[in-house]
Amino acid sequence: MIYQVYPRSFADGNGDGIGDIAGIRSRLNHLSALGIDAIWFSPWYPSPMADAGYDVSDYRDIDPVFGTLADAEALIAEAHELGIRTIVDVVPNHCSDAHPWFQAALAGGPDAPERDLFWFRPGRGPNGDERPTDWIGEFGGPTWTRTTNPDGTPGDWYLHLFAPQQPDLNWDHPRVREEFEDILRFWFDRGVDGIRIDSAGLLVKDATLPEVQPDQPHPFHDLDGVHDIYRGWRRVADEYADRALIGEVWLPDRQRFANYLRPDELHAAFNFDFLGCAWDAAALRESIDGTLSAHAPVNAPATWVLSNHDVTRHVTRYGRADTRFSFAAKREGIPTDLELGTRRARAAALLSLSLPGAAYVYQGEELGLYEVEDIPYAMRQDPMWERSGRIDPGRDGCRVPLPWAGDEPPFEFSPTGAAAPWLPQPADWKDRTASAQTGDSASMLELYRAAIQARRADPALGDGELTWLPAPDGVLAFSRGGGGFTCLVNLSAAPVTMPAQGELLLASGPLDDGLLPSDTAVWLRTAEVTDGPRGADGPA
Ligand code: NOJ
Ligand code: CA
Repeated sequence: MIYQVYPRSFADGNGDGIGDIAGIRSRLNHLSALGIDAIWFSPWYPSPMADAGYDVSDYRDIDPVFGTLADAEALIAEAHELGIRTIVDVVPNHCSDAHPWFQAALAGGPDAPERDLFWFRPGRGPNGDERPTDWIGEFGGPTWTRTTNPDGTPGDWYLHLFAPQQPDLNWDHPRVREEFEDILRFWFDRGVDGIRIDSAGLLVKDATLPEVQPDQPHPFHDLDGVHDIYRGWRRVADEYADRALIGEVWLPDRQRFANYLRPDELHAAFNFDFLGCAWDAAALRESIDGTLSAHAPVNAPATWVLSNHDVTRHVTRYGRADTRFSFAAKREGIPTDLELGTRRARAAALLSLSLPGAAYVYQGEELGLYEVEDIPYAMRQDPMWERSGRIDPGRDGCRVPLPWAGDEPPFEFSPTGAAAPWLPQPADWKDRTASAQTGDSASMLELYRAAIQARRADPALGDGELTWLPAPDGVLAFSRGGGGFTCLVNLSAAPVTMPAQGELLLASGPLDDGLLPSDTAVWLRTAEVTDGPRGADGPA
């Protein structure tokens, strides 16, 4: 199980209201008690923070707000001592506009050789004041910004698929390729066990810059040339023992997704199909089957992700009428039933932790945190909010600092007397602090601890076969490890009976007189499975 730490919001060691490496080091015991195998750290590099650190100005150092390189090295070593591996986030599609390469490209004027490391182009129209293409950026809005020449005249435009402070690098240039292979070595040499690759499918662009047209190859999504980059990265990873490359690949086409996982490319990629899936038995089963069958031919482990720092927390999502996630559908003020969402999130935890492959947990998910949807406008930091014309609430709501203990904010996120947390925490998180939940067997935290512990103890729950069992409509039932372990999830509106034989290992909620209630999951130890669950009224 891999745990995502979002450093800004995990724990604040020095009291400035922003999470940092000292804070992470002081809370490693929480992660160790949870039973995690690895931590993925969202970016911690020097950055002007135009996109919360996904705008990197130096890939080989740590931003002073988070600490020093020596702090990072100490954290990596301490994690290793606890048997926890570490994964750093590398952002290769773009850097920060404060990166020395981009600064040199601007300062050197139209002929600066550094411009070849980016996508500088003249504008269209007689005065060059029209953008080179009409592409829409990943945060909404245009993808080109015009530069001013050193002599003050209007100059060329540069490409940025995200915010203007994130110029896209030109991966056709050998220096860009060499630089990133060297950055990988820099972190592998410091003992990190894996690299999470940001926006992994966007690196290569069609240099003829065509417009996006239906039925035409996309100019920058998932171009074939990207695989060559990852073959090079794999060769670097293979220079070391046991290092992993994990891609952030958003692709609806599962076959194209699996191409990233061929034996000489990445080891794993995030499963956004599962993350975006509705809380619906048939849809989830289709997603699970589709995922497993796409991964089988390339022999790569599937991943199971419910939340991360970019999406609406699933406690909130699962309490809505439409439980799916998509960026396009993000809006202010969608009603949610948090009690229902929490019940489903508990069941989803047992589901995702019993599927074959690697499970990812986003910090705070184990505390049952919900999306904070009432952050005052003036405090919102995420560029998506402004760039969408304030239609998309942005991603701040899933990035609110964690509540650790105590009855009021900052809930020991920061030491006593510290500045207020960089985003405000809801007062009712007093019931969701790690400390309040510890020892409460009905809490989300104890459910995660018990499930992760059981998963670690049972080899049947790692890789290996999943067998679907007969079940009524709206119920997911499968066995693992040749039948010795069974997971049942009731997504239907009515309770169902449980198989006659089987010892109850874990339940996501109270059972109802031996029946499995709606939105509840159980794990069973089964000697040998012969039948599945039945509807309360009769056989499936
Ligand atoms: C994906 C990251 O997860 C997200 O947070 C970031 O804004 C974009 N890539 C751009 O780097
Ligand atoms: Ca701090």
